[in-house]
Amino acid sequence: MDIMKNFSFILPTRIEFGVGAIVCLPKELGVLGSRKPLIVTDSGIASSGLLAKVTALLKGAGCEYGVFDGVAPNPRDDNVGSCAEAARTAGSDCLIALGGGSSIDCAKGASVVAVQGGSIWDYRGVERVPGAAIPLISVPTTAGSGSEVTFSAVITDRARRTKFSLRSVKIAPRVAICDPELTLTMPGAITASTGMDALTHAIEGYTATCAEPIGNAAALHSVTLVSKFLRRAAEDGSDVEARAGMLMGSLLGAISFSHSDVAAVHCIAESLGGMYDKPHGVCNAVCLPEVMNYSRDFCVRKYADVGRAMGLSFSSDEQGADAAVAAVRELSDDVGIPPFSAFGIAESEFPEIAEKSFENLSSASNPRPLGVTDYMEILRRLDSRR
Ligand SMILES: [Fe+2]
Repeated sequence: MDIMKNFSFILPTRIEFGVGAIVCLPKELGVLGSRKPLIVTDSGIASSGLLAKVTALLKGAGCEYGVFDGVAPNPRDDNVGSCAEAARTAGSDCLIALGGGSSIDCAKGASVVAVQGGSIWDYRGVERVPGAAIPLISVPTTAGSGSEVTFSAVITDRARRTKFSLRSVKIAPRVAICDPELTLTMPGAITASTGMDALTHAIEGYTATCAEPIGNAAALHSVTLVSKFLRRAAEDGSDVEARAGMLMGSLLGAISFSHSDVAAVHCIAESLGGMYDKPHGVCNAVCLPEVMNYSRDFCVRKYADVGRAMGLSFSSDEQGADAAVAAVRELSDDVGIPPFSAFGIAESEFPEIAEKSFENLSSASNPRPLGVTDYMEILRRLDSRR
């Protein structure tokens, strides 16, 4: 039982959650003593009107600010370098990450490189950030990555066609301003894929070999919220209650996995993202049920707990585990996630995907151990489902 393990728990990010919470941004800059913040975002947010909403708020409060809108969907090492350079040039004393996980992860990386120098690659791994980073305020506009409250960032290494992560309490946002209204304009497909990312965080965080009780509690409530609200949010983007439920589900899933780990689903997803630039949430969603099938016998009770959190009824944990896998697949199908085969990846590429997945540090956290041949088998099973 996880309750018999020793663990430590830290949540260095203060959370300001609620409809309209974004109005507190100028006040939060004041708390940090910031006079020259830099907004880190992407071109989609810039053209959606969300950036204008935030800059109007800052102008109204008399705040000077800069904007870096060069973040790519799977944030790359060169995005981090450019963002850090922009922050250094502008003399930025705070970064405001406005966007999905990509903008927030890029800002986390830049917050280190701008102060410590070098390349983001130098800081990959666990607690390798040697000193202070620029203070960061996260403002999520999607409900999935949960990066607004985690102390990790995932960056794409273009040369190696792979993703790597850095984990350090020093890159945790000081404040996360979580305003469901900022997610209202998210298109249905992105709502679906990011929402399935959140569900993956919760299920992998709950079943990872290093799971701990506080994160477990967050994970199960995350599963409840996502299974209750994802269909509604994907179907009607203007449903504020569903958006709030998803934003909280995402946040709780992130609290879970950042205190335990993700596992094989993310290992495959990050390989696919690094090699083919596929959207992270879609990669997770297509892999989640099949990896759950693979791991099922090693976490029957926990999968039954997932089933209970989804509101399913069953008469034994064995039945519950199967029902949970089926319900996750049904949810993914209902919100329009395509099958793995839609990626059009040739089977000859599977060995490289399997190798990279196995090399991912989180592979060891999967509840059922797996090697390269197991990843190959999972990929073949995924590919056979049309
Ligand atoms: Fe994720």
